[in-house]
Amino acid sequence: MCIPRVLLALALVACGGAKKAATPGGGSPAASLDELMKARNLSETDVAAALKTYTPTGRHDEYYLFGSGGHSGQVVVIGVPSMRILKYIAVFTPEPWQGYGYGDHASKQNFADGRRDGRSITWADTHHPALSETKGDYDGEVLFIGDKANPRMAVIDLRDFSTAQIVSSDLIDSSHGAAFVTPDTEYVIEGSQYPAPLGGKYADVSQYNDAYRGAVIFWKFDRAKRRLIKEHSFAIELPPYMQDLADAGKLDSHGYVFMNSFDTERAHGGNAEGNPPLESGASQNDMDYLHVIDWKKAEALVAAGKTETIADMRVLRLETAIAEGVLHFVPEPKSPHGVDVTPDGKDIVVGGKLDTHGTVYSFASIKRLIDEKKYEGKDPYGVPILPFKEAIRGQVELGLGPLHTVYDGQGNAYTSLFLESKVAKWSLKDLKVLDKVSTHYNIGHLTAAEGDTVSPDGKYLVAMNKWALDRFTPVGPLLPQNFQLVDLTGDKMQVLYDLPIPLGEPHYAQMIKADKVKALEVYPPGTNSSEMAKDALAVEGGKERIERTADGVHVYMTAIRSHFTPDIIRVKQGETVHLHISNLEQAHDATHGFALGSYNINLSLEPGEHENVTFVADTPGVYPMYCTEFCSALHLEMAGYFLVEPK
Ligand code: CUA
Repeated sequence: MCIPRVLLALALVACGGAKKAATPGGGSPAASLDELMKARNLSETDVAAALKTYTPTGRHDEYYLFGSGGHSGQVVVIGVPSMRILKYIAVFTPEPWQGYGYGDHASKQNFADGRRDGRSITWADTHHPALSETKGDYDGEVLFIGDKANPRMAVIDLRDFSTAQIVSSDLIDSSHGAAFVTPDTEYVIEGSQYPAPLGGKYADVSQYNDAYRGAVIFWKFDRAKRRLIKEHSFAIELPPYMQDLADAGKLDSHGYVFMNSFDTERAHGGNAEGNPPLESGASQNDMDYLHVIDWKKAEALVAAGKTETIADMRVLRLETAIAEGVLHFVPEPKSPHGVDVTPDGKDIVVGGKLDTHGTVYSFASIKRLIDEKKYEGKDPYGVPILPFKEAIRGQVELGLGPLHTVYDGQGNAYTSLFLESKVAKWSLKDLKVLDKVSTHYNIGHLTAAEGDTVSPDGKYLVAMNKWALDRFTPVGPLLPQNFQLVDLTGDKMQVLYDLPIPLGEPHYAQMIKADKVKALEVYPPGTNSSEMAKDALAVEGGKERIERTADGVHVYMTAIRSHFTPDIIRVKQGETVHLHISNLEQAHDATHGFALGSYNINLSLEPGEHENVTFVADTPGVYPMYCTEFCSALHLEMAGYFLVEPK
């Protein structure tokens, strides 16, 4: 209790040493800190936790946490340690405040690029965000996130916290092992989960073993363009197991990717056809296979043309991957889930959902076994299997349902225990458990400050709990998830704060030092935010105009407090309308909205931003258009008329 007491003393000093502190709500008589604690039923530990997270107005957080928004298809940005939500970044799902998916060409293009089978998809099951890295350290330039349901990958530019690109390949039909980056962000990894015939072909599930396959896509990242380049990307075909999470090797293990799998039994359901349900069929074997992939070797084979193109993707076929030594397996205990490379790149920690251990693989041993071709056998597809006992450094008895592991900078590992609802802290050196803390409840992923880098900070951990149960004031049967901030600075871990996430089921998150991210305050005048360059159609003050050309009516418009110019637009029913709108503001936070009712158009024009919209004025009538941001005292007057004359 010594630390809380010190903090309590600090709190008293902060109040000027006086015994009186202002009561919440003000006005009422000031109460002493003791009285406040009594009135709110707070212990000294509670007060210490509050002091570790409370961030006075105007003060900024030390870290950004980028969390998956689950089935909202968005990314949530949270300040740590205050746990204040800063933004929901629109990624795969239309979002009206950011004007994402409500008329502007840039987000329309993202949705077009993210089509599956020609179908427009307006949601996603986002799982694992990954920050770009330079030499294995977060560089704060971009964030990637994958969609499990409609396998796609998004690129978010951290200059403006906006989605710059969505890519998709019809090679696979679901993904889970996404997104993970190689140490210099050469590639972004997207691994399939549920096997299916490659390239969207049809085969009955009875042909599972022969016609169904997994695959891992290596999306090539062009750092200068901040874009994924499909033509320079490639994939590796994998056996029809359910490939799971992945992690890229670094330092000692640079050049390799490690990927889990489950259902090496190749169970595929059919519980109404006399077969066991998928989950029991998939849990028969004591061991599944850790996939060890030599991506450097694969890259060289792809460059040498040893691929076959399937669904616009260059694919290294399984037989080539085996023959050339790109793919090896190592057994891993019972339905594994997390695979996490240690900061020094020397070890790989795997948690087996149905095993009580964390298994620590030694990369040096794996490499030696590969070099010596020391196999204990082959899988049914001919993939060589390295001997388990010789590949591991040891196992640590962690508890029930170990899933994911993150690291601090002091040689400690932190593993989430789903069934126990706890985080176990253990030593990487001697594989001994040092501490456990309860989380609420059913923790899935967890993330630590700078935790996936070569130099983690420790300090804070966020437990991402699947169930909230009794933690919050009830809101009906659908409950939020619970992000719990955990202090790692003491010998004992301490839960500091509960943040409900009422958006979708978040999966992974990453935490980056805030000063690494260089966010723009305003765009330079006329910027197309998707291109991060001046738009060819940007409008300058005084150059506003309406032009009629062969392809329709072009409206060159500006927005500045508190008017649009022009503020009356007259078109004829059936004409195609092109709006080109520039926000002339260069003042911080001077955002204007542009709403055109009944035409489903809504834009967010941030200072300096230019946007283009095209639509057909097919319904005659009088349509007010107005600014949706309270930008000035005359915000309500920032309006005009869009007049569509009947034919
Ligand atoms: Cu511009 Cu309100």
